[in-house]
Amino acid sequence: MKTSLEIDGARIAYVDTGSPRPGAATLLLVHGFPLSRAMWRSQVEGLASVCRIVAPDLRGYGESAPGDWPAADESPTLDRYADDLTVLADCLQADGPVVLVGFSMGGYIALNVERRCPDAFDALVLMDTRAIADDEAGRATRLKMAEHVHEWGAARIAELMRPNLFATATPEAVVRETVDVIASTDPAAIAASQRAMAARPDSTPLLGSIAKRTLVVVGEHDAISPPAEMRGIAEAIPGARFIEIAGAGHMAPVERPEAVNAALAEFAESL
Ligand code: MLT
Repeated sequence: MKTSLEIDGARIAYVDTGSPRPGAATLLLVHGFPLSRAMWRSQVEGLASVCRIVAPDLRGYGESAPGDWPAADESPTLDRYADDLTVLADCLQADGPVVLVGFSMGGYIALNVERRCPDAFDALVLMDTRAIADDEAGRATRLKMAEHVHEWGAARIAELMRPNLFATATPEAVVRETVDVIASTDPAAIAASQRAMAARPDSTPLLGSIAKRTLVVVGEHDAISPPAEMRGIAEAIPGARFIEIAGAGHMAPVERPEAVNAALAEFAESL
């Protein structure tokens, strides 16, 4: 079912589906940058018999409207997206555990939720993401893109990002689908997210205090959040599980959906 929620002037569109047994887990799937819930198509289709699946478009992405965020005098932060997710989670009336599944930028947002509202979710999946903040060069690149994206256009961003997103063996049709989503993203959303990600703090010191069940998933060839770095995240979170997805790059849920779905289903059923 497609539905939406008004939050503070914005309209957050989301899919809410699945008819699993009472008490089954709900997976709240948070997409990466600059994507949309479309990236979770294979998870929505493949996991709906096991879990309840909720997949929003973040504010300004896909079918979600940003409201007046960010205001002209505001420096955007990931808090805004994190707060939208906690409001959404509150509205779900889930009768089982709610798992926050954050992919890449979605993972940065999940760590923000963990820092500020650790009781908002029962379990956590960090997928193809990072705990560290940007270095100076990374921050400068983001701010440059934020400043110029309106003149460059989203299609140029898609071409800039494409080489880092996929394993070399991933079929062109799969690559094309993601590139098309990026190319259709509102430049204002790209600018807001880049500024928010540039401002995010280092979450490494938080990892040791995460007290909920956590799964860490990464593509074998992820060039943005490499497996060695993600293994370190898993080792820093008490009791976390680590799964590497063979043959996938950064876009593991799109490139190797069966393996990612198996990891998510096993985790959800273990809760
Ligand atoms: C993403 O996939 O969300 C981005 O690659 C994250 C980033 O830009 O750091």
